[in-house]
Amino acid sequence: MTSLFEPFTLRSLTVPNRAWMAPMCQYSALPDGPDTGAPLDWHLAHLGARAVGGTGLILTEATAVSPEGRISPYDLGLWNERQTEAFARVTAFLRSQGTVPGIQLAHAGRKASTERPWKGGGPVAIADGGWRPVGPSPVPFADGYPVPHELSTADIAGIVADFAAATRRARDAGFQVVEVHGAHGYLISSFLSPQANHRTDAYGGSFANRVRFALDVVDAVRGEWPDELPVFFRASATDWLPEGGWTPDDTVALAAELKAHGVDLLDASSGGNVTGVHIPAEPGYQVPFAGRVRRESGLATGAVGLITDAAQADTIVASGEADAVFLGRALLRDPNWVRAAARELGAEVRIPEQYLRAV
Ligand code: FNR
Repeated sequence: MTSLFEPFTLRSLTVPNRAWMAPMCQYSALPDGPDTGAPLDWHLAHLGARAVGGTGLILTEATAVSPEGRISPYDLGLWNERQTEAFARVTAFLRSQGTVPGIQLAHAGRKASTERPWKGGGPVAIADGGWRPVGPSPVPFADGYPVPHELSTADIAGIVADFAAATRRARDAGFQVVEVHGAHGYLISSFLSPQANHRTDAYGGSFANRVRFALDVVDAVRGEWPDELPVFFRASATDWLPEGGWTPDDTVALAAELKAHGVDLLDASSGGNVTGVHIPAEPGYQVPFAGRVRRESGLATGAVGLITDAAQADTIVASGEADAVFLGRALLRDPNWVRAAARELGAEVRIPEQYLRAV
């Protein structure tokens, strides 16, 4: 029996295996008009193909809780009913394949209003359809980025309410998991890191103050999400700075808080608040963060980052470093990665009836 293909139960949700799809922006939604931010045929085909391929749980790309929370004008969003209806088509298809549909809810903060990566990825000016980004402090992300509007406490409460409303819509759209995007230097992550958060009020300074916004969001999400379904939180486990940044110790401490606030799994990524740091990107380089959080906080974890090989993924779960693995680029390269991994590991795997003649 392989560990990767053991079912996994969180609250009353059972996921058929532990090979899951990481959230990955497609920058392929409409930037304006009535269907702004709604999933289109591309998203259905893209996510649907990975469901057909046997992926146990699929997280949508970062889906903005408000228009200003988009990374680019082409991001998915969940701030209106049209988007809810369009997502319902996606979740119905994923569920028809036995895959658990999850949504990553996000606010891009000071890294909002940028171009699609294949157009250079730089800031989009207001005159070109962009908007002024917001952040904990008036500190730009990097050279060439605009100075973000410093959020007031009333602004913060408004964004927390946006997360609550998006969570309600996610439930109505048929999602079974919500992941709060607290990583990669986007809004929640930027509140956590002393590199981006220079506030002197209740949302800045001490560790307890810097995690306050994350916990406010989690409370709002939990308040709208059914008790029987799990909430995930994606964190950047480190800013990769020798000093003055967010650290793995901070992540373990945050995980304990998240657990107390009703989060069920921490998805352990890293980086994104500062540029120019050295990241030792080698196979499985972020797995130890998931392992530490799991051992020291007791929270379930997902490991992510350069996990590309079936035996590697199986070992991560078998060794107790994580409860599941999130696959990113491996699934972009091969939508049938999970079925191929099952074959390699000798596990039972679901095959659509339509494809039985190809077994
Ligand atoms: C990403 N990543 C990412 N992360 C996230 O939390 N939300 C997102 O929307 C995106 N978008 C995104 C788009 C694309 C095209 C890529 C390649 C990556 C990061 C992703 O979830 C994952 O953490 C990394 O890709 C590392 O895992 P892999 O690719 O090495 O398996």
